[in-house]
Amino acid sequence: MKVNFYTSKREYENKKNEFDSAIGNVLKNGITTLGKEVAVFEEEVTKFTGAKYAIGVASGTDALVITSDILGFKEGKEVITSPFTFLASASCIAKNGGKPVFVDIDEETFNIDVNKIEERITQNTVGIIPIHLFCQMADMDKIMEISQKYGLKVLEDAAEAFGMRWLGKSGVPRHSGTIGDYGIFSFFPTKTLGAYGDGGMIVTNDSALARLAKCYRVHGATSKYHYEYLGYNSRLDTIQAAILSVKLKYINDAILKRERIAKWYRERLKGCDAIRLPIVKGNQKPVYYVFNILARDRDGLVAKLRENEIGFSIYYPLPLHLQKCFSYLGYKKGDFPVAERVSKEILALPIYPELTEDEVDYVCQTIIKFYKK
Ligand SMILES: Cc1ncc(COP(=O)(O)O)c(C=O)c1O
Repeated sequence: MKVNFYTSKREYENKKNEFDSAIGNVLKNGITTLGKEVAVFEEEVTKFTGAKYAIGVASGTDALVITSDILGFKEGKEVITSPFTFLASASCIAKNGGKPVFVDIDEETFNIDVNKIEERITQNTVGIIPIHLFCQMADMDKIMEISQKYGLKVLEDAAEAFGMRWLGKSGVPRHSGTIGDYGIFSFFPTKTLGAYGDGGMIVTNDSALARLAKCYRVHGATSKYHYEYLGYNSRLDTIQAAILSVKLKYINDAILKRERIAKWYRERLKGCDAIRLPIVKGNQKPVYYVFNILARDRDGLVAKLRENEIGFSIYYPLPLHLQKCFSYLGYKKGDFPVAERVSKEILALPIYPELTEDEVDYVCQTIIKFYKK
């Protein structure tokens, strides 16, 4: 049996008519950028997440760069974030001359260790970028408490966190991205809400920040050909917005199916001592965008999965402080031991709504057999 890490083909087969008609309507109405489908989808995202404003842009990466620029995460200022994440969570700071300041991760959640943030704050610190990784949000109670104490801006990298909600101390569920000053989502195809190409979104509850984000996505223009700021060209594509509206209708079902698959993995792998299953911490509602295990002899297991045609992914094999592009920051091996250790043990198993129980069985049997060798 061959098991794909991810494929969009099954979803397309299941909802072919809806996707075809959504795309067909855009084409029939003639070429348009920021067409009505974008505004409709933005409105739907505000309803789903509870954010007051949503601004569609070309990718999650662009959403991070634009919001970092607006929040002043640039020109020598320091911004605290995690080294265990996708590049864009930190390159958005460096892109306009800001300095990413890394803090190690919590070994159970893989999110930023909030108890280590304060010791890295200096006179030059202007913000924090918490990343809500894989299946759960970072501790937003503590992050907001620190940001208020030191007057820091918070940009939530919720690229992977569509559908996740933080209840925290208040007990009131708040969608990822809607707690800090800005939040961003990625609609990269594999994401819980994924497009059939690139796409991203900025959310905020602040009307002035929403207005700025809207200007910045069209070169900083306040009206046609009148530029108040130096912005970007970064629009959510109209066809992708039409596709995303179809997918958003089914998002709760997609999240439940991911949860069911996570449960199947947990049931089948719980007796396997060589593996650590995901641990969710804090009062929150997780969403299984990624199902990660920590595996003994991870690279041996990877070879076994390859041999058995089982897809997998490694998020992330090399933490950001050890990447060549950030060597100028002066970090070295051993600076963030938890991130470094996790990067050698972590392994993402296939999870997407259309994955079958038979496929999960096959993946788990292969893993169990490997450790019984
Ligand atoms: C944590 C994180 N931040 C940012 C991004 C960037 O999003 P995009 O691929 O849409 O540019 C991603 C997506 O891969 C991500 O996982």
